[in-house]
Amino acid sequence: MKRRLILACLTTTDVIARAKADFDAIVVEGPSDMTVEEVTRAAAAHQAEAILFTNSLRLDATAIAGLPESVKVGATSSVGFDHIDIPAAKARGLMMTNTPGVLDECTADFGMMLMLAAARRGIEYDRIMRNGWRYRIGQGDLLGVRVTGKRVGILGMGRIGRAFAQRARGFDMKIMYHARTRLPPELEQGAEYFADFHAMLPHCDFLSIHAPGGPATDKMMGAEAFSLLPQGAVLVNAARGTVIDEDALYDALTSGKLFAAGLDVFRAEPDFDMRFAALENVVLAPHVASASKETRDAMGYKALDNIAAVLDGRPAIDPLWRE
Ligand code: DGY
Repeated sequence: MKRRLILACLTTTDVIARAKADFDAIVVEGPSDMTVEEVTRAAAAHQAEAILFTNSLRLDATAIAGLPESVKVGATSSVGFDHIDIPAAKARGLMMTNTPGVLDECTADFGMMLMLAAARRGIEYDRIMRNGWRYRIGQGDLLGVRVTGKRVGILGMGRIGRAFAQRARGFDMKIMYHARTRLPPELEQGAEYFADFHAMLPHCDFLSIHAPGGPATDKMMGAEAFSLLPQGAVLVNAARGTVIDEDALYDALTSGKLFAAGLDVFRAEPDFDMRFAALENVVLAPHVASASKETRDAMGYKALDNIAAVLDGRPAIDPLWRE
């Protein structure tokens, strides 16, 4: 008999096909991912053993307590898991897994795109063309910031941060990073470690955020941190919006402290702070850094593999904690 699954997030047709082939699956019909109430209702009605979701589903202690006893595993199709209350899941004996490793390259590619587009005014140029161009642009007009050879600071040097660093090396950038612990030399690859985040900031022509969300990183980029950056720095965030104090970011963008920013993530999603949409010096994306067909398939398959492992009595491949 097939195991019972709630596929609570909208995903690729291939992931849906595999979910339906391998499981007795209730699949979200859209237009949006299932809410906590919808998941709880569907799980109870279906006596589901597993839920596949993504970071749109906030599984706090109340949501976890409301899930029926039949649910044995929750698999988030994301590497980030700040939307899950881990102590509550542990206490309830609900195994939780994520999808590390398969989205590093696409997320780092996207971070580079944001960095290049922000520094070199890609969105403004595109808008000029769509509006018909038809006027002279002088050699002193609409100038961007050179990327090649500059200094980039990376906040969070996990797999995605390191994949970003690898790409930045291709632009002859000097790499610096801050993380809770220093990496061994084979992973550092010459990057300069700063144990003190604030001590790194004055050296950052570019700053790229790759740290996880959650209380430990909440508003790490606040007014004081922005004030420490060089005048005209460029900020990239393809990690979590909560790392940034958005009022301080807005001030930095409008005062000229920052030349530009490339943002894929926001404190509130999808209802992001619309002040940013009015700024020319911001490149905006709707939390899509991992959104290539290959990567979204790989994330969904990994989540399904984790669910199958747990329900078959094997160890989870990517557990969010180890006993
Ligand atoms: C992740 O994997 O954490 C991405 O941000 C998608 O949620």
